[in-house]
Amino acid sequence: MRITVKQQVLLAPATILVLLVLLLVFMQCTYWNLSAKRQEAKAIGTTFIALAEADMAARRLHLLLRSMQHTGMAPPEDMALVSDLYERLLDAIGRLKPFGPLKESGQIPQLINLAEDLNPADSPQPEETAEFFARFRTELSAIFNITQIHRNRLRLAHEQDITQLVERTALVSMSVLVLAILLGLFISGYFSRRILNRIQSLSRNAVQIADGKLEIPPAPDHIRDELDTLAISINRMTKRLIRVVGTEKLLEGAEEERRRIAMDLHDQSLSDLSTILRGLQNLSVETTDKVLQGKTEKLEEDLERAIANLRDIMNNLHPQTLDILGLGAAIEAHLEQYCYADNLPEYHLYIDPQVSDLNLDRLKQLALYRIAIESIQNIIKHAAASRYEINLEVREKMLIFSAEDNGIGMSGLEKQDSGRGLNNIRERAKAISAEVTWKPSRFSSGTRFELTLRT
Ligand SMILES: Nc1ncnc2c1ncn2[C@@H]1O[C@H](COP(=O)(O)OP(=O)(O)O)[C@@H](O)[C@H]1O
Ligand SMILES: [Mg+2]
Repeated sequence: MRITVKQQVLLAPATILVLLVLLLVFMQCTYWNLSAKRQEAKAIGTTFIALAEADMAARRLHLLLRSMQHTGMAPPEDMALVSDLYERLLDAIGRLKPFGPLKESGQIPQLINLAEDLNPADSPQPEETAEFFARFRTELSAIFNITQIHRNRLRLAHEQDITQLVERTALVSMSVLVLAILLGLFISGYFSRRILNRIQSLSRNAVQIADGKLEIPPAPDHIRDELDTLAISINRMTKRLIRVVGTEKLLEGAEEERRRIAMDLHDQSLSDLSTILRGLQNLSVETTDKVLQGKTEKLEEDLERAIANLRDIMNNLHPQTLDILGLGAAIEAHLEQYCYADNLPEYHLYIDPQVSDLNLDRLKQLALYRIAIESIQNIIKHAAASRYEINLEVREKMLIFSAEDNGIGMSGLEKQDSGRGLNNIRERAKAISAEVTWKPSRFSSGTRFELTLRT
């Protein structure tokens, strides 16, 4: 199952939240139960009052009717009172609220029927009146008794309910809270330990890579979360790094070999040639033969040229100026030595002073130097330019080298399907993680070669 790191972190609080919501629902249900009982108690209270009012009205009505039947007179104010009392009686009965046992017993409809018999408008006989009232009041008192008993029972039950409710609510709340805390701790502990272990293993792998121990760390088979993505990235990064370091080592080896050859040429061939030169010079001084003297002087000149060529080859194999002066000065020295002549295009050089503050390692310096030299050679060889600009500057933590000429320019084909020189430039740039581009120059024609390296 795919659970993201964010979901794993949020799982514990979410579980606690769900449990708390359930607790809230439980409390709400308990309250509803309680309020239903309260509703019933209220109905009993209303019924109680209505019964008392009906009883009082019936009693007064009975007395009044009896006295009227006794005297045989019915003054109009007494008649009005009779009908008013009967109204009140009916009203009180109408307010009876059936509850618990009264709901299905049919006693309330029976009481209503009996109340209808009491209607003074029907002018009942005195014996009938007494009987109707007696029946009505017997029924009334039966209902009253039931109400009383039910009320007492309800009050008792209510008190018990409240005690139980408090106990139950306290118990459930405590249990849910303890469960929520334990579950929250367990889930967060489980997931955080899992995440932490994986982060620690990833960080161990990263430290190993940073320390130069290039062992490919294991990668998960499928991606479940962001950490798996990170593990796969570290795995791929290590593989790429191993490839890059391999190339770097090869280049390092090649540079070392060039240095060794340069030293051998210097210590062996150059000193041998110098010895021969000195011998020739001595010979031309000592001899009196003019013809021989002319020949030895010619040989001396040839030998001096051969020695100068050999020095160039040595310097090309291992540029000592780079070790002594640094990158900027080495490029400048090369330009002054080989590119300053009437038959060559005019150059302008700008070296940013910040370049010398950069702590570039020797391999990077060498790669940059060789790339710079090749791009200058290409301008001289192929561009047919009258001038060119060489810049080495630092901009926003980027080292930028550019060689821009006003020559014939390069076709797209030349850039892509290029010769050994351009390929070497690309290979060297890749080895030091630099980017190279060839674009039209800012002059009216020509090429701008640019290299950017993050410092
Ligand atoms: N600055 C330039 N202006 C015009 N053409 C160039 C320039 N630099 C390189 N080229 C073209 O790119 C081709 C490949 O260059 P490169 O790989 O260095 O070969 P080469 O070994 O002949 O110098 C050259 O033959 C030339 O046509
Ligand atoms: Mg070239």
